[in-house]
Amino acid sequence: MTTSPAQPFPENRPDHELRTAIVSGGAGGIGSVICRRMADEGYAVVVADSNSEAAESLANSLPTTGEATHHGFSGDLTESSVNRELAEFAGNLAPIGLIVNAVGISPKKNGEKIRFFDLDDDLWNTVLAVNLSAPFYLMREAYRFMPTDGTASIINLLSITARTGTGAPHDSHFGPFIPSTVAYGATKAALHNLTVSIAHELADSHIRVNGVAPGYVRTPMMGSVPADERLLSSVPMNRFAEPEEVADSIAFLAGSRASYITGTSLDVNGGWATC
Ligand SMILES: NC(=O)c1ccc[n+]([C@@H]2O[C@H](COP(=O)([O-])OP(=O)(O)OC[C@H]3O[C@@H](n4cnc5c(N)ncnc54)[C@H](O)[C@@H]3O)[C@@H](O)[C@H]2O)c1
Repeated sequence: MTTSPAQPFPENRPDHELRTAIVSGGAGGIGSVICRRMADEGYAVVVADSNSEAAESLANSLPTTGEATHHGFSGDLTESSVNRELAEFAGNLAPIGLIVNAVGISPKKNGEKIRFFDLDDDLWNTVLAVNLSAPFYLMREAYRFMPTDGTASIINLLSITARTGTGAPHDSHFGPFIPSTVAYGATKAALHNLTVSIAHELADSHIRVNGVAPGYVRTPMMGSVPADERLLSSVPMNRFAEPEEVADSIAFLAGSRASYITGTSLDVNGGWATC
């Protein structure tokens, strides 16, 4: 079977080519900054989150340009039917130009990791459902509303833990100290793999699929973890990332300058060595 070549990206997307951007976990610390950035880029943003009040209020506060209007969409994204509704809702506004899966949880106990032998079935299954099943469902349901002219892409929020794993001993001077559960790193590694596989499958539709893998980002997810010397000793730049720095990398991957980039992951981690 032959496929038609990818269309060149339009350098500036005119208003009559309005595109929707879905941001799952869009009301969160990183997601909300991505939503704002994508609104600035001219997308009609759908802020999808289980926190309905935050999703609605963020959508109402986003700047509008041209025909773009923004919407909150509330629901539990671990349900495949909710993702189907979300995809239909967004696809009926305009063709879906961008999906960003920023939904995720990283359970901790008093700011510390939960040891693997204390991780019960419910929590294990919840982390898998939120961090892996929810992004999968959204990609599966929404890709059919994406244009195949080379302008659309999907970006999944991964994590440095996809490669490093989580939680070295607290007093370790060797390797990373990442206060999360083993389920977190395992789901991010699986999501990386899913990103690569779906990129392969969507390449002939000219839809690019990539990941962004942050280290520490100062958001509610890291809120209870102090940015102390022990934590930052793994990070050559010696600080947490700002959510804006993650949003910038997503804007790059979504844009025309990344037109030949698919099936990969961009590290945004302050130089943290991962191998
Ligand atoms: N903060 C960090 O240091 C960091 C580092 C690496 C990767 N990440 C990843 O970046 C992404 C965003 O992280 P964040 O720091 O903004 O987290 P956050 O906790 O601030 O935001 C996550 C959002 O997901 C929503 N959510 C959770 N479960 C949901 C569900 N079942 N249905 C719908 N919405 C749900 C929450 O309401 C929240 O708004 C996550 O995937 C996370 O794993 C974060």
